[in-house]
Amino acid sequence: MIEKIIEVSKIAGEVIREGYRSGFGIEFKTNESNLVTEIDKKAEAKIIDYIHKNFPGHSVLAEESGSEKNNSEFLWVIDPIDGTTNFAHGLPIFSVSIGVQRVGQTVAGVVYDVMRDVAYAAELGNGAFANERKMLVSNTERLERSLLVTGFPYHVSENPNLVKQRFVHMLDHSRGIRRLGSAAIDFAYVADGIFDGFWEVSLHPWDLCAGKLLVEEAGGKVTNFRGESISIYSEEILASNGLIHTKLCDELMSVK
Ligand code: IPD
Ligand code: CA
Ligand code: CA
Repeated sequence: MIEKIIEVSKIAGEVIREGYRSGFGIEFKTNESNLVTEIDKKAEAKIIDYIHKNFPGHSVLAEESGSEKNNSEFLWVIDPIDGTTNFAHGLPIFSVSIGVQRVGQTVAGVVYDVMRDVAYAAELGNGAFANERKMLVSNTERLERSLLVTGFPYHVSENPNLVKQRFVHMLDHSRGIRRLGSAAIDFAYVADGIFDGFWEVSLHPWDLCAGKLLVEEAGGKVTNFRGESISIYSEEILASNGLIHTKLCDELMSVK
């Protein structure tokens, strides 16, 4: 199955690269910060079409077209472009994110970094890979030496879940913080030992389904801010190399 997920991610990637070069229409979703382009929709349609042909009967949960529930053990959780704002502005950091769950457990996931042509892939119990290379999380043990990444939801102006205070607090408790604009790539970079930790609030299942498995299969940990295990529907996400996890929980939870 993982080969098929990589294949369909690359098919979508081709559509996205072509759109990136030739231009596309843009619409607003909930507000003027929350965009969707015609390429998001086109790439998603390609992916769903591929699933219908290769895995007929499987259920689908996709960002732009919603849920297609069938009587199947399998659920495909799809973000056709994770990083649409970057894509729309011409910043080449965005991905295709596809996770597959079997009876509620994620069994495979791919984050395809479209412009770098790197497929970050994991299967449950089989490790995580960047193309052919096996990935491992970092071995940073001290928060003061950690490079962290985060993101902000589209309704950040409402300051959900103390998102602004938490960001400011973590600036004082890490070596640095980045904001790349693709949660799926944030997870992939934790899995690959580039970032030591990643936190965000108000993500959607399609932002994290594949990425969570990447981090876990690379030896890291993904929980909520209290350190409790989470599903793909969780409001809070904290992913790390495991070594700094408790310290990250303590700092994030100390913000009131
Ligand atoms: C967004 C990206 C971003 C994160 C937002 C997501 P989208 O997904 O993952 O990094 O901060 O919360 O909504 O809208 O580009 O698919
Ligand atoms: Ca997304
Ligand atoms: Ca998206």
